[in-house]
Amino acid sequence: MSPRREVLGSLAEGGVAEDRPALRRGVLDPSGDAAWDPELEELRLRPRRLADFVGQRQLTEHLEIVLQAARQRGAAVDHLLFAGPPGLGKTTLAGIVAGELGSGLRVTSGPALVRPGDLAALLSSLEPGEVLFIDEVHRLPRAVEELLYPAMEDGCLDLVVGKGPTARSVRLELPPFTLIGATTRTGLLTGPLRDRFGFVGRLDLYEVAELEAIVRRAAAILGVPITAGGASRIAERARGTPRIANRLLRRVRDFAEVRADGVVTEQTALAGLELFGIDELGLDKVDRAILEVLCSRFAGRAVGLTTLAQCVGEEPETLLDAYEPYLLRQGLLLRTPRGRMATARAYAHLGLSAPSTGALAGAQPSLLDLPEGPEGRPVGQPQVG
Ligand SMILES: Nc1ncnc2c1ncn2[C@@H]1O[C@H](COP(=O)(O)OP(=O)(O)OP(=O)(O)O)[C@@H](O)[C@H]1O
Ligand SMILES: [Mg+2]
Repeated sequence: MSPRREVLGSLAEGGVAEDRPALRRGVLDPSGDAAWDPELEELRLRPRRLADFVGQRQLTEHLEIVLQAARQRGAAVDHLLFAGPPGLGKTTLAGIVAGELGSGLRVTSGPALVRPGDLAALLSSLEPGEVLFIDEVHRLPRAVEELLYPAMEDGCLDLVVGKGPTARSVRLELPPFTLIGATTRTGLLTGPLRDRFGFVGRLDLYEVAELEAIVRRAAAILGVPITAGGASRIAERARGTPRIANRLLRRVRDFAEVRADGVVTEQTALAGLELFGIDELGLDKVDRAILEVLCSRFAGRAVGLTTLAQCVGEEPETLLDAYEPYLLRQGLLLRTPRGRMATARAYAHLGLSAPSTGALAGAQPSLLDLPEGPEGRPVGQPQVG
């Protein structure tokens, strides 16, 4: 029996956690007859080509060169890592890379690959040139991650087959493939894993003009009539995030259909956004709860991440990934060595007066505003691709 068949046979005999959805096929594929699927609308909005991907100009330019060069050489593209807050387009870019290369795409995520066997089965079943997308790659279990190192670097898997005295190590050659990892925090990636990616693309929050273009594109795809003013108001309140822009558009569309004539005008957009609790800076209930805890409950004192998360009923990771980047960007929140503090702008936004002792009130985000580990410890400068 060939080593490949033997290894695959041994994996099939219990090496793979079969009850877990380690592999999701077609997640990025909107075709099929699942018209009732609520995710379908989201899928239709995903750009499929680099040319349709709005914003992140430097990143897309770099990516274009990397893809073009690989195409010219007829080689698989180097492994890519996309990092940035949720909803900025990491998964979308993975789909675009596969689309641009005309390659198949397999989708899985760090927590779904529980055992090394899960990854081994997945890697050994790849077609030559296929793209493997691992979402939340920073959450790969250590043993799985270690199996990934030789796969990424040398294109092979080192596996132990059999048990006890008959156990032996087998090296399995893999077809050329491209791994794309996505992470909301590069700081949580181990050094060895990060170093094995040939290209790191960091996604930043989008500018309002870019979000406006995204809203107009989404409205055209969904067949929603929208005016320039309507698109602007939605874009301004989308927290720099395309996913939120698309979500707000859909809610405003509902509002326009039920309470108006179906056209998303500036006025309908404003009324709809207000109804759904989105204020003029794009802050939602949780954002405002965070600022209220800092401004009122702790009245100007620094608050640790865990305490803050408990006060607003969210996980510390959710605060770090989904809420803080925009509050920092808006100059509403500061990270200090002692904890989080509200700025003068935050007090003004809530209609409160800032405490006179608030030495940091009004200060701009500083070098202290580094991404942090789960315990609120700075973990270093994000890597820029
Ligand atoms: N640059 C862009 N242009 C147009 N639409 C975009 C862009 N980036 C993202 N989107 C839209 O935003 C949605 C969310 O993007 P995506 O799922 O790729 O984010 P993500 O970074 O993978 O988020 P998460 O970290 O939560 O997995 C997509 O469905 C897509 O419609
Ligand atoms: Mg994603």
